[in-house]
Amino acid sequence: MDGDAPTIAFVDALEDEDMAGKKVTRVTLYKMREEGVPISWLTCYDYPTAAFMDEAGIEMILVGDSASMTVYGNPDTMPITMETLLGHTKAVRKGAPNAFLVGDMPFLSYHRSVEDAIWNAGRFMKEAGCDAVKLEGGVRVADKVRGMVNAGIPVIGHIGLTPQSSAMLGGFRVQGKDVESAKLMLEDAKALAEAGVMSILLECVPTPVAQLIKRSVDVLVFGIGAGPDLDGQLLIVHDILGLFQAFQPKFVKQYANLGKASIDAFKEYIDDVRDGRFPQKEHEYTMPEEEEKRLREMFDV
Ligand code: KIV
Repeated sequence: MDGDAPTIAFVDALEDEDMAGKKVTRVTLYKMREEGVPISWLTCYDYPTAAFMDEAGIEMILVGDSASMTVYGNPDTMPITMETLLGHTKAVRKGAPNAFLVGDMPFLSYHRSVEDAIWNAGRFMKEAGCDAVKLEGGVRVADKVRGMVNAGIPVIGHIGLTPQSSAMLGGFRVQGKDVESAKLMLEDAKALAEAGVMSILLECVPTPVAQLIKRSVDVLVFGIGAGPDLDGQLLIVHDILGLFQAFQPKFVKQYANLGKASIDAFKEYIDDVRDGRFPQKEHEYTMPEEEEKRLREMFDV
């Protein structure tokens, strides 16, 4: 290579040759866009679910600060900390070595200064093995994004409904419903693209606004409740598996009802224990016959 930076074609060739080429990288994602293949992205917070997702072939995983609500039962995303999210992110990385893993910067981890933003984003990369980080906001976080990108950290910008600002937005509501707010969202998207994000996530945005933003920036554009015309889709794993009962946004499609299946299983277990149907012989441990005989004789069992 004579000191030249590797080209995308060179990196592609390496990926194709290498059996570890199952690992989804930024190059893979851009290649999927080039080939017109929509990218699948889910949130995940624990090791076993991550392993199932990796086996199923998910391309991207977000360890979202939504864990504050889905895992910890808080009413919003504000209380969750860097340490808590880092712990979940490390577990997910172990379960899903192949997926493109995105760490979610929690409230106050990037708001005070560019230094804070670089430091905390760097922890997701160094300590949890993330491939990128996500933060909320557009124009108002462009300086933080620039700093992180200059430090070599791939960044995904998140605009539209930004749950960390739900108090300012008046709750969890669709954004960009009028032309003025759509124009502001477009400015946010352009500011993020100019600051160097690899991708933008649109949450709860009317389809025409999402189409406009997609057309106006060159980076990958994902949606969660932003219509079909994007590079990929994100959903929250607890929503698609029926594990989150508090509320269900309109954009969710539920693929399984593990909540109901769990309640049914718990009830059956309780009944089995009460009625003496569990444990059965096959669940018991034995000891060598001779030892059992000696034990029984010794203690009159
Ligand atoms: O934390 C999260 O899961 C998110 C999604 C709602 C986009 O940020």
